[in-house]
Amino acid sequence: MPLKDRRVIVTAGPTREWLDPVRFISNPSSGRMGIALADRASEVAGKTVLIHGPINSDLVTDKDYRSVGIESTADLLAAVKGELRDGAVLIMAAAPADYTPAKKSDVKIKKKGGNLSLELARTPDILKEVSRMAAEGEIRDLFLVGFAAETTDIEQYAMKKLNEKNLDMICLNDVSRKGVGFGSDTNIITIFKRGGGRVSLEMMAKHDAAERILAEIQLELSGR
Ligand code: CTP
Repeated sequence: MPLKDRRVIVTAGPTREWLDPVRFISNPSSGRMGIALADRASEVAGKTVLIHGPINSDLVTDKDYRSVGIESTADLLAAVKGELRDGAVLIMAAAPADYTPAKKSDVKIKKKGGNLSLELARTPDILKEVSRMAAEGEIRDLFLVGFAAETTDIEQYAMKKLNEKNLDMICLNDVSRKGVGFGSDTNIITIFKRGGGRVSLEMMAKHDAAERILAEIQLELSGR
């Protein structure tokens, strides 16, 4: 089935993991890359859904697709599962928190003398969970795209994620370089494909990178 007949689910932005009513753990993901991908997907795919964490609402464009807001990584997993259909393309551009406070307090935690230790529990790995569902036949003909934001041994880590999460494609973003990644308007992306294909993009605006990534997805799906 070509991309123009498929549902594309794009995730974007950070998640928030609350410690108490006034504090949370998060990261500086702006959601820009995911929004750029959803904008482009809405022009070339059958249907587009954007699932985003807390992001600046000015960034959400008026393009013709549905946006779903979530807060935690657990919420994101539930929302992704709710949107998945046979034949879907899932693009995980979000930066979900990998850990959440093991205990959440219903009331504000008051400071005491000395240090405070926080116990963190692992959150679900969304791509791994969706890969498992695909492998066990719960959902068919998925196309899974991950992102890898890395600062060291970048290609090795990206390849490891491609294999371990059983992805069709991973977009490596070298976030140690200036003007690239979190919060910026540009990215330098290298695309690695299942089976060994590789496409290196020069530094470009996130909307241009999104167009190139969707073109590569389109190319891969034309062979299916
Ligand atoms: N991801 C996910 N579920 C998580 C964390 C990340 O599905 N709980 C997805 C991201 O959306 C991204 C890919 O996995 O597409 C890689 O995310 P990244 O944070 O780079 O890697 P992690 O798997 O979290 O590994 P690490 O933090 O150890 O680098």
